[in-house]
Amino acid sequence: MQGRFITFEGGEGVGKSTQIRRAAAWLEAAGVEVVLTREPGGTPRAEQLRRILLERTDEPMPQSCELLLMFAARASHLANLIEPAVARGAWVLCDRFTDATYAYQGGGRGVPTAAIDALVRIVHPQRQPDLTVLLDAPIAIGMARARVRNGTDGPDRFESERAEFFERVRQGYLQRAAQESARFRVVDASGELEHVAAAIRAALQPMLVTRSPSR
Ligand code: TMP
Repeated sequence: MQGRFITFEGGEGVGKSTQIRRAAAWLEAAGVEVVLTREPGGTPRAEQLRRILLERTDEPMPQSCELLLMFAARASHLANLIEPAVARGAWVLCDRFTDATYAYQGGGRGVPTAAIDALVRIVHPQRQPDLTVLLDAPIAIGMARARVRNGTDGPDRFESERAEFFERVRQGYLQRAAQESARFRVVDASGELEHVAAAIRAALQPMLVTRSPSR
């Protein structure tokens, strides 16, 4: 079976982790080997880098440090998990990937697109997602859900950003989706969980039909 690399994107609290787990279960029931993973993270080293990226400390993190750590984690994740899994025919479902860097570091922080493009050329010049599901919702909805989810843990370094930041992230994602419309499926994530899940299944269905048989 041909391996696939499918990414799920969206702002805070849009329901990504719930939906990605449901999509994984649905694909597994259809006989697909699914590897569920996330960024930053996904392998032991990349998860260590994730902790550094998310923790709130007194030492400010320069934009360039954040950007490079994201790609450092990505390099390890690609080499040690994503590429081997796709090569053996698995479908890798990844909670965030490089589009998140364009949206958060590019849109949110104002890092020039050319700088991100340059790191893409170093870290994954050949690899692009086969399909990207963008869960889109007004930021007020996502921020409210994220607050409930955090409970007593408190927000991480990204979640403690202001509403304006998340609005720029949202616009960054929508801009990416418009630029690469063949790869993106934009799903309205403000509706019922069941409707969102059905829209995601509809986006994945054509890939299931066209997959080559395993023997
Ligand atoms: P999450 O996986 O719980 O959403 O947390 C990851 C955080 O990292 C989230 O706030 C988005 C952020 N992020 C970036 O800023 N750039 C990236 O490239 C990726 C993958 C995530």
